Parts: sequence; structure tokens; C-alpha cells
Amino acid sequence: MTTTLISGGTVVSATGRGEADVLIDGETIVAVLAPGSHLLGTDLAASVDTVIDATGKYVIPGGIDAHTHMELPFGGTNASDTFETGTRAAAWGGTTSIIDFAVQKYGERVQDGLAAWHAKAAGNCAIDYGFHQIVGGVDDDSLQAMRGLVDEGVSSFKLFMAYPGVFYSDDAQILKAMQVSADTGLLTMMHAENGPAIDVLAAQLAEAGKKAPYYHGIARAWQMEEEATHRAIMLANLTGAPLYVVHVSAKQAVEQLAWARDQGWNVFGETCPQYLYLSLEEQLGAFSEEWGQFEGAKWVCSTPLRSRGEGHQHHMWQALRTNDIQMVSTDHCPFCMKGQKELGLDDFRAIPNGIGSVEHRMDLMYQGVVTGKITLERWVELTSTTPARMFGLYGRKGVIQPGADGDVVVYDPNGHTSISAATHHMNMDHSAWDGFEIDGQVDTVISRGKVIVDGGAYHGAKGDGRFLKRGLSQYLI
Ligand code: URP
Ligand code: ZN
Ligand code: ZN
Repeated sequence: MTTTLISGGTVVSATGRGEADVLIDGETIVAVLAPGSHLLGTDLAASVDTVIDATGKYVIPGGIDAHTHMELPFGGTNASDTFETGTRAAAWGGTTSIIDFAVQKYGERVQDGLAAWHAKAAGNCAIDYGFHQIVGGVDDDSLQAMRGLVDEGVSSFKLFMAYPGVFYSDDAQILKAMQVSADTGLLTMMHAENGPAIDVLAAQLAEAGKKAPYYHGIARAWQMEEEATHRAIMLANLTGAPLYVVHVSAKQAVEQLAWARDQGWNVFGETCPQYLYLSLEEQLGAFSEEWGQFEGAKWVCSTPLRSRGEGHQHHMWQALRTNDIQMVSTDHCPFCMKGQKELGLDDFRAIPNGIGSVEHRMDLMYQGVVTGKITLERWVELTSTTPARMFGLYGRKGVIQPGADGDVVVYDPNGHTSISAATHHMNMDHSAWDGFEIDGQVDTVISRGKVIVDGGAYHGAKGDGRFLKRGLSQYLI
């Protein structure tokens, strides 16, 4: 078995930082030692197979992106990253595990949806991967099948209060699914937007000739997110289901979550980099006047980008700091402009929803450290440790300690990363982050003991990643 010593770096965890060497034997971290340690009289650096010099760099647990959609069929097309391309791009960006969403559509069996996602991912991933289960058709059969998910290592499921006719569940269906969640410990993940009301607003805008991408954000008003978030919270409280609200973007939705948490309720929220940096007026608004330009489509996602003037981005950073929001995932759902986003050239309602960011999450969130919005420890907590705890991976993932998987990233705070579509590794013909200049750089990425990125080169292989059978969330009470 290969032994690797990461020496001379600053090891950062969710709770602190310190100079230490990390020893990996095979796939597993076996020791975290004082710098330059000898083990049983042996000079470690001289006796291991590989030494990685991390002097002046941070040594952090590999990132866990708990919200991705590789190959998702959506909006009349499929998300453009396959498990192969998307997980490789993730690895480039310092993410060593993803949790993707297996899909059950109305009329399909949950077991078949899950099996289909296993078939897409198996043998193709560069990094370890797990699944949540989308339940797009709640009925007696799917409710029964959900009870078997925990045994499959799928300990969370997602429901949609949005997208009528696609994945949408009404309140009665949500209530029944949450009763299963309360019974089994499955974590309920919720897309909280009032879909039926949004569809009326969107149709009225389109009828009035307002069909540019910008109007996607107008139709999906913050009131639609606040209302649905509140409804999800109350249904969860009634049933006793643990609730995790995905891709939160509106400050009013954050206030709902904070209020519920202040009641002591078991409610959590995730946001995404796009809701911290990008805005409706700067990204989509800038292109709304010239209908000939379709650029705004790059940033059409749901929940939508919010107005900076209304203070959502500022509020979201604060919520990350105060733990009103606990995690940052990407909601990686890439579509190319050519042939995909342009399906909605004549009408924003036909633009496939989604932004691709799986490669950039660690870098983008590190900018919060650079600008003093979050601490180094909080960066690790938001991007790795809490995702591991939330989704039943902690101990194996999310921490550098003996017994954990050898998933380690060496991050250079003095490095620099320029984001552009010409250099990224995601299968996209554009970047929502084009022109972003990053202070910091992913230097080396180790996945279960194997160096997969180092010195600007990729050393991994398709099929390196294994399926992660997850346990129950550590946040269950
Ligand atoms: O725009 C988004 N978020 N697309 C992916 C599907 C979802 O709702 O997460
Ligand atoms: Zn969603
Ligand atoms: Zn999503």
C-alpha cells in the first residue's frame, strides 16, 4: 500500500488550526502528528512513498458538495456534465465527494429511479459519490418504497413545491412524505418555492411580452420563496420530520429558517455561491434591455438570483457566519448556451434552469475568508464538515483524523485562480463565473489516498470514485 506524508502545512478543521503532518496509509489517514515527527524512531519523511510539501499552505478535508445534478433530464434536455466530466471538474476544484440526486418521476418506481442513477454513475466517477432521492411522484407505492432507502445508504430525499407537472408535490403529498421522514429518520430536503403561483405570474409576464431571461427572476419573487419556506417548516414541525431547505436565496426565507431554529426546531438551510456573489440586476438585468442578447440565460436558475439592492447577498453572508444557514453546496446543474439554454430564446419559461459551479465552490467560498466574512475554520465547516455530518458521512469524510478516508486538499493561500470557460473543466460552453479572480488556489487533491490533482495536472481516472452508502444525519434528535 502507498504511504503519503503531507508535511509542513497548517491543518485546518471546523474547530481550529495548527501546524501538523498528516500520514496516509493506503486509503486512510493513520496519523496527524507534530511537524517533523519520528514514528517509532523512524524518520517518516524518509520512509514513506510520497512526501507532499505543504509549507505555507492549508491542509483541509476534501470538499463535499451535497447538491449536484449530473446528467439531470430537465427542461427538455439533460444537464451537460456526465458523472465522468462533472466529478473530474469537482476534483480539480478540491471537492472529493458529491451527493447527487437520483430521480423518481411521477409514475415510476423509486427503486427504478435509484437503480438508473447507480447505472449512470458506477465506474464513471473521479471521486466518491452518494445519492439523495428525488421523489417526484408521491403516492402509496413511492411512500412505501421510501422506507427502504436508508438500507440502500440513501438517507435523504428531495421534494419540490415548485415545477408543477414535473417534480411538484402538493401539500397533502408533502405531509405524507414527511410522516415517512419522521418515522424513518430520512432527512426531508425541500425546494421551497410556490410553483403554482409562480407559473401564473410567469404566464402573465409572457402574455405582456416580457419574455427575456430577466423576467424569470421577477416571476419567482422572494414572497414565493418565503411563503413556501414557512409552509415547509410548519408541515415539518407538525409531522416531526427533520427539514433541510435547499438553495435558499431570499433573505426572507433565511428569516423563516432562523425563526424556526429559534423555536428549537430541527430545520436547516443551504445556500449556494451564486446567491452570495451574483444578482438579478447585475447578471440578468444587464441584458434585459437588448432582447437580441440572450446572455442573461446563463444565470437562469431556481431559486433565482436576487436583487442586490434588496440586500439578500449581504444577509446571506451574515447568516453563514451566525449559523442561520449551515452549508454551502453548488446546486451544480450545467447547461450549455448552444442547444440547451437557447431552447428558451423566445420565452424565459423554456430556459433550462441551472448554473454550473462544482469546480469553483471551494475557491469562491475561500474568498469569504479573504474578505473577512467568515473564518478559515468556518470555510471548512461550511464546505466539508457540516455536509458530512448533515448527510451521514462524518468520521469517514469531513475531517482529518486517524481512521478517516484520505481525502485531503492542500490549498495555497498565496496562489491565484482566474475563472474562465476557456480553462474550466466542466462540460459547459460558458461560465457563470467568467472573469472572477480568486485569491488562492487548489494545489493538491488526494482522494482516498490517491493524488488525483497536483501541480496543475490531473492524475485520477474514471472509476476512482466509489458509491458512498450514507448513514442517518447526525443532526437528528
Ligand atoms: O435551477 C436549478 N436549481 N436547477 C436544478 C434543479 C433544482 O431545482 O435543484
Ligand atoms: Zn431545487
Ligand atoms: Zn438542485
